[in-house]
Amino acid sequence: MKSVLFKLVSSFAAIILSGFACAAQAANSDTLVMYFSATGNTSGLATTAATVLGADIKEIVPVSPYTMDDLNYHEPNCRANLEQQNKAVRPEIKDLNIDLTSYKTIVLAYPLWWAEEPRIIDTFVESYDFSGKTIVPICTSGGSDIQKSIENIKKLVKGNAVVKNGRRFSGNTASAEFKSWFDSIL
Ligand SMILES: Cc1cc2nc3c(=O)[nH]c(=O)nc-3n(C[C@H](O)[C@H](O)[C@H](O)COP(=O)(O)O)c2cc1C
Repeated sequence: MKSVLFKLVSSFAAIILSGFACAAQAANSDTLVMYFSATGNTSGLATTAATVLGADIKEIVPVSPYTMDDLNYHEPNCRANLEQQNKAVRPEIKDLNIDLTSYKTIVLAYPLWWAEEPRIIDTFVESYDFSGKTIVPICTSGGSDIQKSIENIKKLVKGNAVVKNGRRFSGNTASAEFKSWFDSIL
């Protein structure tokens, strides 16, 4: 009898707890954080953004990963420099198999390369129809401002999407700072 009672109580508790878990997950499921990060800084920012917004998160992974040599911008002919110099380059994204239908807001996070979005972000932006959606660009950088990348993204985006004026953050931005900025722009 005791064990039957225990099973009943624990099943009831499990149902209540799973209900809470669903509610927490659903709170902001219309927001998706998409990010590209070559050396980890933007990954930190994107994770903070997704956690604080209760959003889903997905990484933009290059088919051909960037090596440290590829990223050595002191070397004029390194891969990243060559890509940034040619606005037509579209580095391929791995398994870009994602359905954006249910998302209203896409937070798009990337590092700045030569004060612009990496060309792989252009690949992503051109791969979808963002009609009716809001894109919130955010970036990390050594100090450069996000503005030029926003202008580029606005030119590339398809459909009647709203592209918000985003902001540069450091990779270890505090949750509260990100949340108060995000609330202020939506
Ligand atoms: C090829 C390349 C170009 C860069 N150009 C700039 C730049 O123009 N201005 C800037 O402030 N930082 C620049 N950076 C620094 C990155 O924006 C910064 O380290 C960023 O946080 C890296 O993000 P990640 O770790 O997510 O890749 C550049 C980095 C690389 C690899």
